[in-house]
Amino acid sequence: MSEVYLNGELMPLEEARISVMDRGFLFGDGVYEVIPVYGGRLFRLAQHMQRLDNSLHSIRMENPLQPEDWEKIFKRLTGATPDIEQLVYLQVTRGVDWARNHLFPRGSKATVFVMAWIAKPKDPDIAKKGVAGVVLEDNRWNRCDIKATSLLGNVLLRQEAQDAGATEAILIRDGLVTEGSSTNPFIIQDGEILTPPSSNLLLPGVTRDLVLELARGSDMPCAERQITRDELETADEIWICSSSREVQPVTRLDGKPVGDGVPGTLFRRIDTLFQDYKASLS
Ligand code: PDD
Repeated sequence: MSEVYLNGELMPLEEARISVMDRGFLFGDGVYEVIPVYGGRLFRLAQHMQRLDNSLHSIRMENPLQPEDWEKIFKRLTGATPDIEQLVYLQVTRGVDWARNHLFPRGSKATVFVMAWIAKPKDPDIAKKGVAGVVLEDNRWNRCDIKATSLLGNVLLRQEAQDAGATEAILIRDGLVTEGSSTNPFIIQDGEILTPPSSNLLLPGVTRDLVLELARGSDMPCAERQITRDELETADEIWICSSSREVQPVTRLDGKPVGDGVPGTLFRRIDTLFQDYKASLS
């Protein structure tokens, strides 16, 4: 069984234990990151570490470890299988709170947990046929820019999408697209790649930023601007992206075909750029 890191120690996953009074368990009072590992290399590590710092700052916690300590842990946990695609999961909570008081406890010590797991091999059918999405109302809180472990809103929306036969929910707040339950969306309208601008209402996805960087680097027209529900529903192409899914074409939305109902030409271009970028790093 795989080795994990918990509060300064390495141990088998089944032996990792935290207190039931941990605020991560009691309140979802913590933040996390998911980092892909391709060819033994941590993908966009600096960007993930920067977002971790931002999330910790937003919940008024210090980063409990130095960048080089994080990296040492990641390398140790992923080093045994460098040729296999993996994902690193890290979580930092505000630690044990014997009083279970909503207020921050004084002097509590952060709980730090890291594990790595083998990524599911990419299903080639997804790039060929696409996936199904549904449009749902974004009923989460308005600090979705924090990568918080309190994910109940996202979990319920994702399950609702799954129950409706779709792989992802694309969320609408006040008539505008925000993000997916665990992805960032893009639409293509008249050859332009569009995604909602960063704000407190969505997670600044590392994959999203890379897609924009790759598109701009290849002179593909793109913009970060508000997208209405109507624009989503009449888009020529829709993509969703995240660290675990990479970029995926959404070819059905609420049971209706998106564009021609097959992955579009711009999807094929961005996917090639993404795969080439990945390969160039390994
Ligand atoms: N989720 N928006 C939300 C709400 C997310 O949970 C995620 C990622 C993203 C995409 O971010 P990134 O490209 O940095 O992975 C957007 C991760 C993978 C998860 O919760 O497992």
